[in-house]
Amino acid sequence: MTGPTHVLRLEGVVKTFPGVRALDGVSFDLRPGEVHALMGENGAGKSTLMKVLGGIHQPDEGRIFIAEEPVVIASPLHAKARGVVFVHQELSLADELTVAENIFLGELPRKSFGRVDHARLYRETDAILEALNVGFDARTRVGDLSIANQQMVEIARALTVDPRAVIFDEPTASLTDAEKVVLFRVIADLQSRGVGIIYISHRMEEIFRITDRISVLRDGTYRGTLDTAATDEEEVTHLMIGRKLDLSRNAVHHEMGEVALEVRNLSCGALFRDVSFTVRKGEVVGFYGLVGAGRTEIAETIFGLRDPSSGQIFLDGEEVRIHSPRDAIRRGISLVPEDRKGQGLVLGMNCRDNMTLPQVDDMTAGPFVSDEAEVAIFDQYRDRLDIRTPGWRQLVGNLSGGNQQKIVIGKWLSMRPEVLIVDEPTRGIDVGSKAEIHNLIRDLAAQGYAVIVISSEMPEVLHVSDRIVAMFSGRIMREFTSDEVTEDSLIQAISGLDGGRVA
Ligand SMILES: Nc1ncnc2c1ncn2[C@@H]1O[C@H](COP(=O)(O)OP(=O)(O)OP(=O)(O)O)[C@@H](O)[C@H]1O
Ligand SMILES: [Mg+2]
Repeated sequence: MTGPTHVLRLEGVVKTFPGVRALDGVSFDLRPGEVHALMGENGAGKSTLMKVLGGIHQPDEGRIFIAEEPVVIASPLHAKARGVVFVHQELSLADELTVAENIFLGELPRKSFGRVDHARLYRETDAILEALNVGFDARTRVGDLSIANQQMVEIARALTVDPRAVIFDEPTASLTDAEKVVLFRVIADLQSRGVGIIYISHRMEEIFRITDRISVLRDGTYRGTLDTAATDEEEVTHLMIGRKLDLSRNAVHHEMGEVALEVRNLSCGALFRDVSFTVRKGEVVGFYGLVGAGRTEIAETIFGLRDPSSGQIFLDGEEVRIHSPRDAIRRGISLVPEDRKGQGLVLGMNCRDNMTLPQVDDMTAGPFVSDEAEVAIFDQYRDRLDIRTPGWRQLVGNLSGGNQQKIVIGKWLSMRPEVLIVDEPTRGIDVGSKAEIHNLIRDLAAQGYAVIVISSEMPEVLHVSDRIVAMFSGRIMREFTSDEVTEDSLIQAISGLDGGRVA
């Protein structure tokens, strides 16, 4: 069989937004049956390029070919009709509708009189869901699903047609390891049918595990394409950010002060039990464990989002009761949440106001913060976190995914907390900024902040922590200092294989 050599090809694509040249003459091609990674820093133009391909944006210049035929892709439905389907970075589902209705939205199967054919709708949906091996069915309301399961619905939606090309824009950002295995199987299956896959992710280990080629964008320009088997992390990073990164393990020890936060025998129903630990001023304590180990719930309890069923919390040696985030903030505790889209940002509001939101909320009691002061706060954290935006007036909804996350981190840092809790601080953040955020966490500790970092990425925990708390199923299994910890002992502890409970 001799098919076209390319599933699709883009040539010289230019796309500008007010104040931003998002794509500057970018070319890209996709072969049948390959997984082609698209990489680049936050704001490099990856999602924009894919939105051009998916018919969401029209390019200012450039040409698109599908199976070597020049095409104009006028809309997402048009793209889909041509076999190009898109699994989005931002979830775009309707909460009130069922899984089946979301999957077939705009294309519901109908009976001869125009009525929706529900029997067929549910039957076809269940067939797709079965192949994905998910734990919910076609009739479930999407709003009742976890973020990870909503992501699976997005994926299911892409599989309703017989696709030529499937675009995955950071599909694993909120998936568990088990769900990732399912996703990779779906990808391998598509691949074996000759479908081309475009895969966007900031996670190097995934890129090297499943892709055949890697194309890199930097600041809206095309930097080159590498064969995955013939390159390494260092070369890819260099293309992405134009400089070398220090990825070595954290070795700098600094002076530690008094205990800032102590948690004693804290329990919260079945979520976690009998949790005790301390964090000193100047110390970074990493919480490592599988999804569902109870780490986020502990953070939420300290931050006043949940009431503990028993146990005590001490700040600077004094017992405190924290009933709300407002209490927590007043006492100098900040939490950068895991679900930043849901809990951290107002997409229709500008960058500055998003960043200064908690202070404004506090202004009823505190001093008046002027517009200029707010802009100054924004500018300071924009520089520190390298947030890519033409200015503070830009709506947060128009920023790239990773830059949106940096806005939330900036918002909590700008409150100068004493105890800072960050939940998955670098999810969706590119390698360059990731290193910056790690350095920032180390810096904050050096300045005397007490920091808790919750992370599911072992290299991250090893890199930033002075001490690591390993959790399994709602309990602390072990504590390690950064000198004694090994990858093996950490894995043992978080899988519950470790008999001795030292904590
Ligand atoms: N609708 C829009 N209006 C204005 N600017 C936009 C819009 N969409 C994207 N941009 C800008 O275009 C640039 C590229 O954004 P894009 O979302 O393509 O980045 P990305 O490579 O996907 O980054 P990330 O890794 O953070 O998801 C950014 O500067 C972004 O702010
Ligand atoms: Mg993106």
